[in-house]
Amino acid sequence: MPNKKSWAEPWKIKMVEHLRMTTKEERIVAIKEAGYNTFLLKSRDVYIDLLTDSGTNAMSDRQWAGLMLGDEAYAGSRNFYHLEKTIQDYYSYKYLIPTHQGRGAEHIFSQIMIKKGDYVPGNMYFTTTRLHQELAGAKFVDIIIDEAHDTASHHPFKGNVDLEKLQKLIDEVGADRIPYVSMATTVNMAGGQPISMANLKELRELTKKYNIPIAHDMTRVAENAWFIKEREDGYQNKSVKEIVYEICALTDHATMSAKKDPIVNIGGFLATNDEDLYCKAQNMVVIYEGLHTYGGMAGRDMEAMAIGITESVSDDHMRARVGQTQYLGQKLIDFGIPIVMPVGSHGVFLDAKKFLPHLEQDALPAQTLAAVIYIESGVRTMERGIVSAGRNKETRENYYPKLELVRVTLPRRVYTQSHMDVTAESIATVYERRDSIKGLRFTYEPEYLRFFQARFEPIK
Ligand code: F0G
Repeated sequence: MPNKKSWAEPWKIKMVEHLRMTTKEERIVAIKEAGYNTFLLKSRDVYIDLLTDSGTNAMSDRQWAGLMLGDEAYAGSRNFYHLEKTIQDYYSYKYLIPTHQGRGAEHIFSQIMIKKGDYVPGNMYFTTTRLHQELAGAKFVDIIIDEAHDTASHHPFKGNVDLEKLQKLIDEVGADRIPYVSMATTVNMAGGQPISMANLKELRELTKKYNIPIAHDMTRVAENAWFIKEREDGYQNKSVKEIVYEICALTDHATMSAKKDPIVNIGGFLATNDEDLYCKAQNMVVIYEGLHTYGGMAGRDMEAMAIGITESVSDDHMRARVGQTQYLGQKLIDFGIPIVMPVGSHGVFLDAKKFLPHLEQDALPAQTLAAVIYIESGVRTMERGIVSAGRNKETRENYYPKLELVRVTLPRRVYTQSHMDVTAESIATVYERRDSIKGLRFTYEPEYLRFFQARFEPIK
């Protein structure tokens, strides 16, 4: 008997959704019609959809049963109170404002907290988060450790904050110009990389000294907790549930895109321990989202989220969730494909600069690679590089991010190990003929979050 111990998913499949297979000729037409932007492809033209882990998750039978318990009252739905109690019990925050998804919470929070001319430091930017900070009048300042920008660094906690960078900003602009520190668990744009508990505790100490609150982007907090359990001294015997609570308790406010960790298809919230912020947010949410006890969600969706949160902090769930990502990452490493190391939680990130070294960043290597992978196999991935980074609001210059990545993102509980095999083999086939791949250029560029709707054409 081999002494290797494999793990398997802690669930079995009750219902299947058929996938449509397409030919290469059909895919060439489809990607051209989509302006070489995978966001503009029709889902029916996609075979394995690894665009995002956002809202693409498979709910459990318990969550589906929860939908039937939806209390669709305009005000005071019982599902709101269930969700509120779940957030208090699992995440430690006292007050809950539901929103239709994460960016709804980011909007309200940024508008309340930021004054024009403020600075918001954070452990790397996220697209919607930074845009809401900028629209409210702030300048975002990246204070993540340098290793996060180096795809080859094996640092176990690439989401860590560089406290010297934060101290320097405080010294330069003064603490009263910093309304909060934006701290994400895990860091999406760095490749799904975690922050350590030790670093978070140090961040808490430093911010306390200057009375600066920590705003927690808790979109993938349970995934971050799994890495702490695996990698950080003293946490091996703690559960994901305990670690999640401990992380949240070190912060003051939180925004959540519930389409990720909590395993639902739509939803989000703002949570806080600050009664004053809560009152202001209750007032704002009725303008932009809905009444403060539903904030843009149906009662049934709040119920599914409450149940999903309890499932998301299970160690067995997280072992399989992150295990599948590690499995795909290892396959790609075995094929010699350059990826962000170490493999993160929600996806494997291809290093497009190393994959296509003959392309300048202006020839949009990651955008190009995502289009080519789709044509090869019908696998849909996403650009996370110069197109996603956008332009500086004042100078209108392109941001040139160090990281030029293609994100191969895994929805929760949706695809099997065989889907991962097919995906890895498809990317390897593209890698074999990488020298023949030419770049793309913009033909249409929207003003905000351009990566969602931009169109491109091949450079001849
Ligand atoms: N914060 C992080 C870290 C995110 O990954 C997202 C969404 C948001 C905030 C915004 O939340 O989409 O519910 O409004 N990320 C998706 C993705 C879009 O594909 O990574 P939202």
